[in-house]
Amino acid sequence: MRRKLAAGNWKMNGLRAARAELDTLEQRHGDAGVDILICPPATLISACEDTPFDIGGQDCHAAVSGAHTGDISAEMLADAGASYVLTGHSERRTDHGETDAMVAAKSQAAYDAGLIAVICIGETLDERENGKTLDVIDAQLAGSIPDSADEENTVIAYEPVWAIGTGKVPTLDQIGEVHAHIRKCLTERFSDGDGMRILYGGSVKGSNAPDIFGVPEVDGALVGGASLKAADFSPIITALENS
Ligand code: 13P
Repeated sequence: MRRKLAAGNWKMNGLRAARAELDTLEQRHGDAGVDILICPPATLISACEDTPFDIGGQDCHAAVSGAHTGDISAEMLADAGASYVLTGHSERRTDHGETDAMVAAKSQAAYDAGLIAVICIGETLDERENGKTLDVIDAQLAGSIPDSADEENTVIAYEPVWAIGTGKVPTLDQIGEVHAHIRKCLTERFSDGDGMRILYGGSVKGSNAPDIFGVPEVDGALVGGASLKAADFSPIITALENS
């Protein structure tokens, strides 16, 4: 039985005052029946440590330490109180030129530090319109997931690039097709692939969450904009609890 996961990715948003949103969230969902993960900016990880929620980084370096100015290692995230880290988010792939091989190395670094990697994949609009979605997903799954992945250390997040921050959401059939395909790939490659959670991400809101969570093989969501305010994230968590 896969535990459902509601994950919030705050991206480069949030000053110390944003910590108050988690107090509100705790009042409403302190004993939620689903896992709740918050990935704040790295500057806020320590400040978020005393919440009942899991805390995650948004990226990590593949090395444990060294001369990499501005970067943060997985071990440092764990030391600051994180138990998860996002790897391969499309904004990292686009803005920082991260390749599948780099994402795999970062994910392995996460495992080595005892973190769960949320490995992000997804096609661009151009790729979808040219019928390449499943090929892109295949390549990203093959290249970004280390061989040592298992159901305990790995979550997959399917985030179509064109749905991120745009208000555009794939149809439920499109989400279902890709999630079923990801599940098939995971079970073919990993003996416990059936236990790995698969999240959908891209313009998830309280209004569309109940339908999205009804799609087979959707084990939760990775939420950007709507995770910043407790008032917006709370209905998504409730929808997941009720799914
Ligand atoms: P939005 O929910 O703002 O579309 O962002 C999705 C995302 O990129 C989460 O990682």
